[in-house]
Amino acid sequence: MTDQERIDTLRREIHRHNYNYYVKNEPEISDYDFDMLLKELEELEREHPEFDDPNSPTKRVGSDINTGFEQVEHIYPMLSLANSYSIDDVDAWVQRIEEALAGQKVEIVGEMKFDGTGISLIYEHGRLLRAVTRGDGTRGDDVTDNVRTIRSIPLQLVGQGWPDFFEIRGEIVLPRAAFERLNAERAAAGEAPFANPRNAAAGTLKLLNPAEVSRRGLDAYFYYLLGENLPYSNHFEAMTAVRSWGFKVSDIMTLLHGLGEVDRFITRCDSLRRELPVATDGLVFKVNSFRQQLNLGFTAKSPRWAVAYKFAAEQAATRLRFVSFDIGRLGYITPVANLEPVPLSGTIVKRASLHNDDIMQALDIYQGDMLLVEKGGEIIPKIVGVVEEDRLPGAEKVTFVSHCPACGTRLVRIEGEAAWICPNKYGCEPQIVGRIEHFVGRRMMNIDGIGAETAAALFRHGYVRNVADLYDLTVSQLLTIEGFAEKSALRVLDGIEASKQVPFERTLYALSIPFVGETTAKKIARVVGSVDTLMSMSVEQLQAIEDVGPGTATSIAEFFADPENRSIVERLRAAGVVLSMPQADEAAPKSNILAGKSFVISGVFALHSRDEYKTMIEQNGGKNVGSISSKTNYVLAGENMGPAKLEKARKLGIPIINEEQFLAMLI
Ligand code: IVH
Repeated sequence: MTDQERIDTLRREIHRHNYNYYVKNEPEISDYDFDMLLKELEELEREHPEFDDPNSPTKRVGSDINTGFEQVEHIYPMLSLANSYSIDDVDAWVQRIEEALAGQKVEIVGEMKFDGTGISLIYEHGRLLRAVTRGDGTRGDDVTDNVRTIRSIPLQLVGQGWPDFFEIRGEIVLPRAAFERLNAERAAAGEAPFANPRNAAAGTLKLLNPAEVSRRGLDAYFYYLLGENLPYSNHFEAMTAVRSWGFKVSDIMTLLHGLGEVDRFITRCDSLRRELPVATDGLVFKVNSFRQQLNLGFTAKSPRWAVAYKFAAEQAATRLRFVSFDIGRLGYITPVANLEPVPLSGTIVKRASLHNDDIMQALDIYQGDMLLVEKGGEIIPKIVGVVEEDRLPGAEKVTFVSHCPACGTRLVRIEGEAAWICPNKYGCEPQIVGRIEHFVGRRMMNIDGIGAETAAALFRHGYVRNVADLYDLTVSQLLTIEGFAEKSALRVLDGIEASKQVPFERTLYALSIPFVGETTAKKIARVVGSVDTLMSMSVEQLQAIEDVGPGTATSIAEFFADPENRSIVERLRAAGVVLSMPQADEAAPKSNILAGKSFVISGVFALHSRDEYKTMIEQNGGKNVGSISSKTNYVLAGENMGPAKLEKARKLGIPIINEEQFLAMLI
């Protein structure tokens, strides 16, 4: 691979991980692995300035912007911190700043690095005015209503001496105990647990329901005061003042002098952090003096006067009991290491995913091996290696199964993928039960009272063989299942009845179409409008939808080409399940998203009629105009748009958008 190709690959990968982390709150890799990718890209870009790109992920700090909140520009950009991974790295940083400050004495403040989500609070006349997330560093979401529910955040300051207007930055965290409770509740409700307290905190802060936010028990620690003419000469003084106004500042904050004290602080905190009620992933070192901070200044991404030190992920060694193979609702087989229970970062680990055949082979595992388990940043445990010296004599190598452990069907491997799949979609119990469980989940059809066990029992009794069968369930059938009484049976049937009102976008997600996750389903539903349109679309047409790649498009087309799935759709329709978005003319005015924008519509469209587009423009605050002028904001162009119009729009530099792009503007 050439350096240019590697740069492209890294940029694509990092963009995807940024999206997973900041938008979806579902990281696939540890922070450390992410930082390593970013570091590699930074280095390659330094070596090859000729491949510079203003959109490279090295040029930004990530975005967590959701559309549900108003966006606000930060007064001071919210930057990130340079990372270091060893005491030597931190020592090198101390030496660098001492050199840059021409041998002046440098005092350093050591702090915990809280593992939550950053927040900027603005106070005016001692009262909380606004709370904004980090967003892309320049603009963030106004989450004031949610932040007000956090009990440790002062709404009115106490003490004295606070500036009339200032900004304070800190970290919103979900304490471990609240995290455990929340995940237990989610498991009981059949919802996916949060991978770590950081994701839980970020996800909670973005809820549109402040009451639920309040219930979850968020907390916040503060570490950075900003404002004009602050009456302090250093960070430690400022933090001491901040603490006296009612903000939570960690007691661990310590003034340090010289490398020896810095090194001892690192060692002390590494053992201390396990006892803290909140998750931390490292330390932060800051130059104390504001004058020195000013002299050192900032790079494009982070202050030179501060550095983060990441703790090494905790590891433990434990014996492999056996490898089992889980079967997911989409038929994917996941190897899982079942372990002798071992404590690690506050929990007991008994199972760890081996992900897929390639990863398992690379680890080269033998029966009864001593395995190294790691939990980085509290992410789900993973196996990182084998202690070969401890291998049992005569042990056999662990191999991937060739047949499905549930139904015995020979597994197939999809071209270009590391995963093995059981192709017996309609006969393999865990797949069917998994699809039923998914269908009834809270974010899908939200049918209460059917958890994993009930789904399995419904299948075994022969009552529910696919999701459409749920709509034929009767009270007397439910009563034959252990644990059901009249009341609980009626609750399930009520839930099934209510699910008929669930919007199409959720029903689409509930169907378990491979590659169609929640966000994709939402996008597709809004663009195509109904299951009938979707079923009639070609792979090419599907690919024209934003975010739908060739794999997803093919998967959707194959799904609906299958007579079994078509029959499920027809039975859902007959049961009264919603399979289209509300008609444009039925729905009341929806938004002001297009306020001040004028559109000229031209050509023939595939997804909606011209009149429907006109209505949509008006209902979202836009204006329809007949002919193109310099005042036109957009030309919405279908097939066969007249060449004269096209030429005019081009000349005037007016953006010409197609129907998918237009529909995406409304999301
Ligand atoms: S200082 C200009 N101090 O870590 C940078 N940040 O990786 C000001 N964080 O965006 C940040 N604990 O969300 C600072 N004691 C601490 C911190 C801390 C956690 C977060 C913060 C920041 C991120 C950078």
